[in-house]
Amino acid sequence: MCGIVGYIGAKNATPIVLNGLKRLEYRGYDSAGLAVLTNGHIEVRRDAGKLERLAALVEADPVKGKIGIGHTRWATHGEPSARNAHPHLSTDSDFVVVHNGIVENFLDLKEELTAEGAVFRSDTDTETIVHLVERYYSLEHDMTLAARRALKALKGAHGVVLMSSHEPDKIIAARIGNAGGVVIGYGDGEMFVASDIPAILEHTRRVSFLESGQMAVIRRTGVEVFTLDGQPVEPQIHTVAWDPIAAEKGEYRHFMQKEIHEQVRSLTDTLAGRVDLDEGRVRLPTLNLDEKTARKIQKIVITACGTASHAGMVGKVLIEHIARIPTELDIASEFRYRDPLVDENTVVLAISQSGETADTLAAMEEARKKGAVLWSIVNAIGSQAMRLASGCISMQCGPEIGVASTKAFTAPLVDLYLLAVLLGDLRGTLDEARRRKLVADLALVPDLAGRCLDRESEVAEVARSLKNTRDALYLGRGINMPIAYEGALKLKEISYIHAEAYPAGEMKHGPIALVDRNMPVISIAPLDPWYEKMISQVEQVKARGGVVVAVATEGDARVEGLADHIFWVPETPWLLSPVVTVIPLQMFAYHIAALRGLDVDQPRNLAKSVTVE
Ligand code: G6P
Repeated sequence: MCGIVGYIGAKNATPIVLNGLKRLEYRGYDSAGLAVLTNGHIEVRRDAGKLERLAALVEADPVKGKIGIGHTRWATHGEPSARNAHPHLSTDSDFVVVHNGIVENFLDLKEELTAEGAVFRSDTDTETIVHLVERYYSLEHDMTLAARRALKALKGAHGVVLMSSHEPDKIIAARIGNAGGVVIGYGDGEMFVASDIPAILEHTRRVSFLESGQMAVIRRTGVEVFTLDGQPVEPQIHTVAWDPIAAEKGEYRHFMQKEIHEQVRSLTDTLAGRVDLDEGRVRLPTLNLDEKTARKIQKIVITACGTASHAGMVGKVLIEHIARIPTELDIASEFRYRDPLVDENTVVLAISQSGETADTLAAMEEARKKGAVLWSIVNAIGSQAMRLASGCISMQCGPEIGVASTKAFTAPLVDLYLLAVLLGDLRGTLDEARRRKLVADLALVPDLAGRCLDRESEVAEVARSLKNTRDALYLGRGINMPIAYEGALKLKEISYIHAEAYPAGEMKHGPIALVDRNMPVISIAPLDPWYEKMISQVEQVKARGGVVVAVATEGDARVEGLADHIFWVPETPWLLSPVVTVIPLQMFAYHIAALRGLDVDQPRNLAKSVTVE
């Protein structure tokens, strides 16, 4: 949540910060602001609402300088207003801060600082940080030492970026706990800092990441990294392979639509280098898995939030069916507080697009304390979920900007399949013929996804006829039951239509009472082992006057005779079918939201990376 950007160099910081914020707006859009050091003092521009309001403000009242910081906010403490927008200034306006996280002891600190004479101008917890820095600067006369003392006084998890007119040659950045990443970008005579890579990708691909408990002093010419106790740390510089164009909308109206269409590419990249079709084998070197460890595993617990948890639900079916290892999906925010039963023979596998979701990271920490083996499937390179794990499968998606996750859902489905095959191979649960067949099927996936995308106009047509519906029910069974959950989530998060998902077999225990002429029932009924069961459920819905929208395999005459609308998908090996059945549901939600004129990429109340509890 909350996006942070900073720049120090020879250019004008204002457009660089504004552009960076634009790339991060998916992290929060309640308010936006920037601060620039100009002629020895700090100028702030900030406003409630989206970034375009800040851009208009800056255009009307321009500000220039060679060092600047900015912020886009997802409100926690204090309503989303201009006065609560970051950056926040100290009492004498010589220090300024942007922040991601929650200062848990802010009430105590505020009381102390107010008693000392600090003047608070907002309702935020963040403002305490800048007053603390001011307090310690008056004692230390050194920005780095003052920042260190201030940071040590904070409870909670934080990403912080600070600057001061007293020491205009530096920006200070810090990461404490899991409130989101802090990435430092290395340019030529200029440096960048941000909460996420896309913000700085157009300037540099050379980056390093702060670990929790580290603080960086960033100057034009480079960076020094310290622990909060002042011990120097050598930053590791990585080169990001992402193409800056990948973070642009291009010919598409919305990032979500672009990202739906990028799935052919992301699925192709997911297989590249990992599938050996000649040998009929899967290779996942970054998982660091050998036969001995594979044979030791007694249980796998997949933990994740939101869309990633739906991928985990599919993962349970895949791993249990292919590798015969008991596997559970545990929602991260539940797992972390339940004293879960995991030990050194358990693998806890976290799935996360951002790799920064607070609940997922906390679940990983909990698992680590209990001695479990930690793996992750993560998209954001260098993120905490990647670094915490002893083995990681990196999603090959490139940046995902739309708040509603799409390509970062189908990629981990394939990653989980790869994992299941690898485990099955290492544990000897797969004979050679079966293993070869499972691997050969993978090669079909990108093309099958492409064939779903080719039918976008048909899906858009159905969306047009159902765009005014108030509710929708999504049903699926077996491996496609999680797709009902994912389809319903897509619809509610971007179109604000109430949508419920159910395992189809549970219909008779309650939800069937909801069915009438006004209730579209989206029934996921491809040719998989649950097909017959799904058909009888569809019959029951029809018998009660429901409007059936079926996801069905091309050429299926039975479904054609039953359903009011059909999203056709190509025939697909059933273990891979969720990759294709979800695509029309992504497009359906997208078109309904776009037809209703809603902000598809930045739906109300949501944020892409949820770095608070
Ligand atoms: C937020 C996003 C969802 C995402 C979830 C988990 O709720 O809006 O799209 O699925 O977080 O995020 P992660 O980055 O851990 O996959």
